[in-house]
Amino acid sequence: MPANYDNSASFYDRLSRLFFGKALINAQVYLLPHIPQNSTILIVGGGTGWILEEISKIHPSGLSITYVEISANMMALSRKRNIGGNNVIYINQAVEQAHLVQDFDVVITPFLFDNFTEANLLLIFTHIHQTLKPGGLWLNTDFQLTGKWWQYAMLKSMLLFFKILCGVESWHLPDVAREFNATGYKVLEEKNFFGDFVVTKVCKKLI
Ligand SMILES: C[S@@+](CC[C@H](N)C(=O)[O-])C[C@H]1O[C@@H](n2cnc3c(N)ncnc32)[C@H](O)[C@@H]1O
Repeated sequence: MPANYDNSASFYDRLSRLFFGKALINAQVYLLPHIPQNSTILIVGGGTGWILEEISKIHPSGLSITYVEISANMMALSRKRNIGGNNVIYINQAVEQAHLVQDFDVVITPFLFDNFTEANLLLIFTHIHQTLKPGGLWLNTDFQLTGKWWQYAMLKSMLLFFKILCGVESWHLPDVAREFNATGYKVLEEKNFFGDFVVTKVCKKLI
């Protein structure tokens, strides 16, 4: 059963700001200049949809965006966002159940993979991987552990909180970097935020 953030939709952004300030936003916005003009984009797990407005500030028109979000409440908030002259298709479904063809120049997965166990990571990663065109860009932002005790404490507290509230299945961070390596991606750019607890990457699909 995939995690569903319905119960947290009304306060998710405020909670994020309370604990992380603007770090989680900055980590995602940092990648957006890599989006080419007039591209086709897949966003998975966009939450309340603020990222649609940030993308539309950079590209006021010309984009074809497919926005997949499992939570109906998150999706309702996302639909209210200002998307300028861009075209957005909203799919309120688990991404692994959505029928998506290999049509995207860019895919964006912001804090999606920390919802999954190692066992389920491969399924969802492969599903999204198959939708990206060869040479396409995958913009991924995640938490990571770099050996600081407070990162571990924060991660466990977050996973426990969202496990109780939203049914998040994992207790650990899955090894997403390994999947990118094994599947044939080249990291073009990488930057850490919030004392290295957050890592944001541009990965290019080589074949
Ligand atoms: C941790 S939140 C991050 C939200 C947003 N990216 C942000 O940074 O504010 C993860 C989001 O992914 C969505 N999600 C989780 N599993 C999903 C799935 N299998 N398919 C689509 N969306 C999913 C959740 O409903 C939630 O909105």
